[in-house]
Amino acid sequence: MWSEKHRPTTLDVMVGNREGREKLAKWLKSWKRGAKAALLVGPPGTGKTTCVHLTAARFGMQLVELNASDTRTKEKLGRRLGQVLSSSNLFGTRSLVFLDEVDGLAGRADYGAVEFIKDAVKKSENPVVMAANDPDADEVRKLASVTSKIEFVKPDAGEVQAFLAAVAGAEGLDADGASLERMAKLANGDLRSAINLLQSGGSHEKDEEVTAAQALNAFFSAMDGKAALVALRSYPGQPREKIRDLFNGILKSRIHEERKAAALDVLSRADVLMGRIMRGQDWRLLRYLDPMLASELWTSLGDGGVSYVMDGVPWLLQLRIWNDSKKLKEIGALAGRRLGISQRGFLVEDMPYFLLLARDAPFREGVIKSLDLEETFVPFLAKEATRARAPS
Ligand SMILES: Nc1ncnc2c1ncn2[C@@H]1O[C@H](COP(=O)(O)OP(=O)(O)OP(=O)(O)O)[C@@H](O)[C@H]1O
Ligand SMILES: [Mg+2]
Repeated sequence: MWSEKHRPTTLDVMVGNREGREKLAKWLKSWKRGAKAALLVGPPGTGKTTCVHLTAARFGMQLVELNASDTRTKEKLGRRLGQVLSSSNLFGTRSLVFLDEVDGLAGRADYGAVEFIKDAVKKSENPVVMAANDPDADEVRKLASVTSKIEFVKPDAGEVQAFLAAVAGAEGLDADGASLERMAKLANGDLRSAINLLQSGGSHEKDEEVTAAQALNAFFSAMDGKAALVALRSYPGQPREKIRDLFNGILKSRIHEERKAAALDVLSRADVLMGRIMRGQDWRLLRYLDPMLASELWTSLGDGGVSYVMDGVPWLLQLRIWNDSKKLKEIGALAGRRLGISQRGFLVEDMPYFLLLARDAPFREGVIKSLDLEETFVPFLAKEATRARAPS
């Protein structure tokens, strides 16, 4: 994973949130017994976890880290935190206690965890820092009296793009400014997803086909729901690529129409879920995706008859179709109607070829006229056409 590989190794190379980083250092420097805990609050992928790690390293402190699953019950907390709360280290080095993702704390049941933490913060011999995404979460509110908030915000698209350019450079990736800009925009301030997008765009065509095929064929031929889930989880690409690959496999299979319709219906719900995840940047919802596909999709397919097909649509074009381009969608709808196929069918199957044809100016103009599209489509289509690559 590039997001791990390119995790910043020092505070000063982190993107954005300079103020937040400085506040954390200042808080730590002046921390005394009985002082409030620091609470970093901000959207996913803005560097909260990374910042705490690097700050501990900078101050030569040992980090004692707990995440949401350790902090759900009072007993677990007590066991994990034990003596760090009550003693400073033998060698004089302090520990920094880190409770990550405290907004996942109560989740289903908060077995006294919040009260335990409040008490621990007041008594701790070592500074306690926490992180959370949601400033309005119940836990965050309940902890307000013992924490001072440090807000993390999304870096702007320009900063994200510069970061992507640096990563692309380090990977020897030949990425043009326009696609970096698009990815930066799409990532919506989430550096983790930005870097994931870059990785999927850059490496997709190389050697991952084999494994995507293996994963999905294993899914299509799984003996039970459990095996289906394992197979799905082994898929090497991004969730949206996975949905698209499933879609293509099912679309081109020769299973009974009713089964096909049911399966596509499940997929369209999965796609809606992904849309919600991407829009809200709520990556936690992702955990529902595979189980949903493994139970509902796998069941709807019945046995046999579907397999992975190589998909000709380059990933970046897919991204544009799905996320950016209202205009491409509009063309897909109109052209699809004209040809008697669905918008989606046209986008997935025919758009890459259509764009190649649209390199030819008379074709472009003819199509725009015949579909009765506005003038603005002329330069738009010309630009898309020059970007288009032959399907693999
Ligand atoms: N400020 C940043 N500068 C550079 N890379 C970053 C930054 N923030 C995040 N990243 C990238 O995103 C990955 C995840 O970052 P991190 O875990 O610190 O985010 P987070 O804010 O804790 O997210 P979450 O709320 O989901 O826990 C890092 O490994 C790194 O690749
Ligand atoms: Mg984190």
